[in-house]
Amino acid sequence: MENNKERAQWASKIGFILAAAGSAVGLGNIWKFPGKAFAGGGGAYLIIYLLIVLLIGVPVMVTELSIGRFTRKNTIGSFRTLDKRFGWVGWFGVVCAFVILCYYSHVGGWVLSYIVSYITEGSTVMADGLGYFYGFLGIDAATGATWFPTRAIIFAFIFVAINAFILLKGVSGGIEKFNKVGMPALFVILIILLVRANTLPGAAEGIKYMFSCDWSKINSGTFISALGQAFFSLSLGMAIMITYGSYLKKEENISKNSFIICGLDTLVAFLAGFIIVPAVFATLGSEGIGKGGGFAFASLAGVFKAMPAGALFGVLFYLLLLFAALSSSISIQEGIVAFCCEEWGWKRNKTIIFMSIVCFAIGIIYTISQASVNITIPWLDFTGVSHPIAGDWMEFLTDRLLLPVCAFGECIFVGWIWGPKHVQEEVCQNDAKFAWFKVYNFLIKYICPIAIAVIIIYSFATGTTVS
Ligand code: PHE
Repeated sequence: MENNKERAQWASKIGFILAAAGSAVGLGNIWKFPGKAFAGGGGAYLIIYLLIVLLIGVPVMVTELSIGRFTRKNTIGSFRTLDKRFGWVGWFGVVCAFVILCYYSHVGGWVLSYIVSYITEGSTVMADGLGYFYGFLGIDAATGATWFPTRAIIFAFIFVAINAFILLKGVSGGIEKFNKVGMPALFVILIILLVRANTLPGAAEGIKYMFSCDWSKINSGTFISALGQAFFSLSLGMAIMITYGSYLKKEENISKNSFIICGLDTLVAFLAGFIIVPAVFATLGSEGIGKGGGFAFASLAGVFKAMPAGALFGVLFYLLLLFAALSSSISIQEGIVAFCCEEWGWKRNKTIIFMSIVCFAIGIIYTISQASVNITIPWLDFTGVSHPIAGDWMEFLTDRLLLPVCAFGECIFVGWIWGPKHVQEEVCQNDAKFAWFKVYNFLIKYICPIAIAVIIIYSFATGTTVS
């Protein structure tokens, strides 16, 4: 294992935890989770999600961090070192991270642009949230006229530049430092928004809904959707946690840290649920709840409009999204950069700049395909050939194929080839405790791969994305 002496390391325990939690806490927690929790019967969904995180999220997190720390390599290097036949698992992870980075950084740019919009022309945005969002993406909702979404692209460029700037400062000097400020800031904003949302007249109905368990809303689709959400939200099945684990000191307890990281990520998702659901109940009514970009950029304008000092809370909300998006996108890019530098011998700084430019350029297709230019790419599954827009196609590729197949490969490799015992040895370095190893052994061999296989089959059989 050459070069290990020079390999970057996290400077502090808390720095690592915040960086890993920062990777996990992202747009998925804030704009997807609340809508899913609402659709899944409030409290009933929260219980199911929590169980999935415990039974599947935590074991896979332990697995990825252990592989990374054991090999001290990037994702592909890790698998190649352990077993040449499994290098493809790493490839799925790195390619997945690459595609996600292309679109995630553009959406991050939209978030940045919305912060500026709420500061400079909040009342215009709030007056017609949907029209403004369409206009931002380059289409006139009324006439159908289209134009190039220059503003969205410029802000994506700025976002990518900030991302690169942080990475250029290194693992502990950039990623760790940013998260030490960004994550506490994120929590402060969350608390402010939580208080604001829950003191709106009419919010009580939303809180009641989130605490009640409407089991009639649960079906097999709910389970699968919660599973997909957990994987994406915990940044698993990608190049990330293996890479982050490779910078981890032997003194750190991987089992305990995995619980903390998964716990923080889930806490933020729940808090977001307890912000969005009551706020929408109080302003737009329960039928106003949705999820994803359309909901976050368009529908929420109506929520801010209906509350005093709405533009200010709009700025705070998009700031929250910005911190969440940045700490995730730096992790995604780090996974790719570590691979290029270690496997291909590229120089770190040049790789960061090159990757930033390439991802920004490919991401342009994502942004313009939303509305202004009609670009579709064929997608094949068991329901036949469909022609999603390029933006959706990129998400299908990562969420339905690359991410779950990588995670599946990891479980099969660790559970059946390399052996859970190796994970146990790695976790137990420096006398760290791994009291639940027997449970881990069972979960990683049977429950995790079966659950992930179900995600893959379901996505391809029904043509739906579950994350
Ligand atoms: N976990 C992040 C979220 O919830 C997204 C992410 C995906 C981060 C992939 C890193 C890698 O939005």
